Amino acid sequence: MLKENAEKMQVGVILENNMLANDLFHLKINVPKIAEKCKPGQFVMIKVISGLEPLLRRPFSLHRFERETGIIEIIYQVVGKGTNILSQRKNGEELDILGPLGNGFSLRGEKRIGVVGGGLGIAPLLAVAEQANNQGKEVVAFLGARTEKYLFAREDFKAVAQTIVTTDDGSFGNKGPVSRPLERFLEKNTLDLILACGPIPMLRAIANIAEAKGIPAQLSLEQRMGCGVGACLGCAFPIKADTAEGYTYKRVCYEGPVFWAQDVLFSIPEKVNK
Ligand SMILES: Cc1cc2nc3c(=O)[nH]c(=O)nc-3n(C[C@H](O)[C@H](O)[C@H](O)COP(=O)(O)OP(=O)(O)OC[C@H]3O[C@@H](n4cnc5c(N)ncnc54)[C@H](O)[C@@H]3O)c2cc1C
Ligand code: FES
Repeated sequence: MLKENAEKMQVGVILENNMLANDLFHLKINVPKIAEKCKPGQFVMIKVISGLEPLLRRPFSLHRFERETGIIEIIYQVVGKGTNILSQRKNGEELDILGPLGNGFSLRGEKRIGVVGGGLGIAPLLAVAEQANNQGKEVVAFLGARTEKYLFAREDFKAVAQTIVTTDDGSFGNKGPVSRPLERFLEKNTLDLILACGPIPMLRAIANIAEAKGIPAQLSLEQRMGCGVGACLGCAFPIKADTAEGYTYKRVCYEGPVFWAQDVLFSIPEKVNK
């Protein structure tokens, strides 16, 4: 594992670090050795500044990546010390990056894919929507954000997918949670696979809808992370498994962040039905 991770440690150069809304930023980094290995749904761990504070790298989903140019793109929100420092980093400066990490989404023979993103959970879905579109699949994107200002990448999604938008305050698209238009869509249409990323209550709602309709779904989970490479167990999440208890704890950074919805335990029942 050490050798594998050493190869994933790279120095990237910031090409753009632009503010999209008050606390929302779009970061473009030139890091060819990572960009060439990326898969949609994977993430990177970024050391936001050299030195000791903050010491730990921070995890960010790959919004987009391009092998030809060696560029990866990240959308991030300033929520604390690390992301605040990141927002002040300038073009041309270097960043220590570990990646790509995690398993990513997996597409098979499905013809019609729904991607459902809530808040920052929209970020990792663009790369997989573009990949599915390139493979000739039909893509429907359901994007939900707090307000219009936080609805990033709308035009990029529209280029590859039928795009349905909601906001919490109704400032753009329908007002309400992003699960609602998905439910409405599935009253008259069907999907072969749903891919979702967002806050846990949203993922739970999407998992319930997918189960009720018998549609397989992959959920990208977010947990606080320490190492990002499976060593500290800080990101463990209960996942159904063939154990006496009916579940086990899996590392979101290593076995995830993408899990099949039917395996994800949002709460631990006394006995898990396998
Ligand atoms: C696999 C993965 C992918 C991610 N992708 C993105 C992304 O594309 N864009 C983005 O903006 N953020 C993303 N995050 C969340 C991002 O890593 C955190 O917002 C960031 O680490 C916060 O660092 P900080 O030092 O600014 O905040 P801290 O000072 O460490 O914390 C500030 C606040 O943020 C909360 N927080 C910190 N980490 C997380 C987390 N992992 N999940 C939920 N809440 C957290 C803390 O509980 C606290 O309330 C991702 C997280 C994971 C695990
Ligand atoms: S963050 Fe250390 S094991 Fe996942």
